[in-house]
Amino acid sequence: MRVGFIQNNPVFGKIGYNLSKIEPLLSQYTVDLMVLPELFSTGYHFLNQKEALRHSEPIPEGPTTQTLIRISNKNKTSIIAGIAERYGNRSYNAAVIIGPNGYLGKYRKIHLFDTEKNCFDKGDLPLKVFNIGSARVGVMICFDWRFPETARTLALSGADLIAHPSNLVLPHCPQAIITRCLENRIFIVTANRVGTEKRTPNNSLNFIGQSQVVDPDGDVLCRASEKQEETKVVDIDIEKSRNKYINSSDDLFTNRRPDLYRLQ
Ligand code: ACM
Repeated sequence: MRVGFIQNNPVFGKIGYNLSKIEPLLSQYTVDLMVLPELFSTGYHFLNQKEALRHSEPIPEGPTTQTLIRISNKNKTSIIAGIAERYGNRSYNAAVIIGPNGYLGKYRKIHLFDTEKNCFDKGDLPLKVFNIGSARVGVMICFDWRFPETARTLALSGADLIAHPSNLVLPHCPQAIITRCLENRIFIVTANRVGTEKRTPNNSLNFIGQSQVVDPDGDVLCRASEKQEETKVVDIDIEKSRNKYINSSDDLFTNRRPDLYRLQ
């Protein structure tokens, strides 16, 4: 299976322009699954819910999802991408899952980061695994990584790989994800962005890049730079994630003691 990420630098609020920059990149590479960053078509730093709602789109009818459906179909590829979802008078920091035959589903970010709480409603959908070719793929968005329960729940639900659209600003995630992969024996594809957003005079957000693909042994198969827009693809053996073997007598899942994982 060939997977990849696009590390972009969207212009805030310019959905049409940001989409037009992504399309040629998506068409340049032959992949089974391409992961795009969180809020890749709108930019990140909404100031309030009214502004977030103005830039959000219904899924799957909105222009971002429709564009990705068209590209997936044309290129015979799957795409997982972070977008701002409008649902009635609510807005969600969401991701769409699209296969070559169309829209497969969506995920809504569970753990909202910092000022996102002023703009988005908390994700309210169960963590779910999608079939992408022969792979079982879960989705988490950016700050969800900081809560190990997210990746664990997806891994226990059968995910071989987690697609991780991100807009990282803190430094820890690229190294910490190695542990998420090791402790679950799964692949994680983090698609992060680069650049800076300064939407208010005293708040500048710098995005840290370093998108990456990490395997179930915790090996970093490829990692992008901190500042450049980049696309990387890599071949992976998805079977590697299905063996939860640690050594001849230990298994990552069957050795668990869920009967004792309860608060007293
Ligand atoms: C983040 O969750 N975008 C930091």
